[in-house]
Amino acid sequence: MKLPFVLVSDVDGTLLGDDAALDGFCRWYVEQQARIRLVYASGRFYESIVESIQTTGLPPPDAIIGGVGTEIRAHPTGEPVGGWQERFSHFRATMVRACLSRYEALEPQPVHLQSAYKVSYFAIDATEEFLAQLRSDLQRAGCPARIVYSSRRDLDVLPPGVDKGAAAEFLIRQWGVEPRRVMVSGDSGNDLSMFGRGYRGIVVGNAHDDLKALRGDGVFHSRRTHAAGVLEGLQYWLSDGQP
Ligand code: GLC
Ligand code: MG
Repeated sequence: MKLPFVLVSDVDGTLLGDDAALDGFCRWYVEQQARIRLVYASGRFYESIVESIQTTGLPPPDAIIGGVGTEIRAHPTGEPVGGWQERFSHFRATMVRACLSRYEALEPQPVHLQSAYKVSYFAIDATEEFLAQLRSDLQRAGCPARIVYSSRRDLDVLPPGVDKGAAAEFLIRQWGVEPRRVMVSGDSGNDLSMFGRGYRGIVVGNAHDDLKALRGDGVFHSRRTHAAGVLEGLQYWLSDGQP
């Protein structure tokens, strides 16, 4: 049997954003399906991604990492991957909210984008200093957290050590797949944590500056955008001499 590869891909702005490009990706994926496991890693929750699978050309994946890494569920069963959320069940979202409520620059995102493990705000053009201040405030209040900032707008407060990359690593280890057989793709800040873990990285051509600035052997910068950029990266990493 051929050894499996895994693609862990962001959805919005990466696979979604150009329907013709997504068609091309799907045509390729259908042929490769026997040797590639597909995982979506999104800032959105499971149900919302399932809705996108039903209403767009997104192919059905094997698993979905949702809420910026705070949930890992098998698809299509929706079964949570055991052992993940148990690691941070002590996280207190209400304490995080109380601690950060004094900041006018933080506008809470709508309720349907929040969970017990993901406290999200809109914060336009937040600086590194500001993010560091939030981190130290939370630490002092007794609720240390992982802060992920994306697209110069979205600010997610997550349990310590939780992000898309950590969730992907948990799943990949559970599947027993070697890191060099794993490809990750993304376009914005919440995807950064998937890079630099020994996986083969793909930065799509339309990515934000923070991803475009990534360097190193494990990073491929596609010239093409959205799903066409993902495909360009896959073809690069899967071509002769790679993995
Ligand atoms: C998605 C989520 C949002 C989050 C953002 C960045 O847009 O819906 O809550 O802040 O991703 O991670
Ligand atoms: Mg994205």
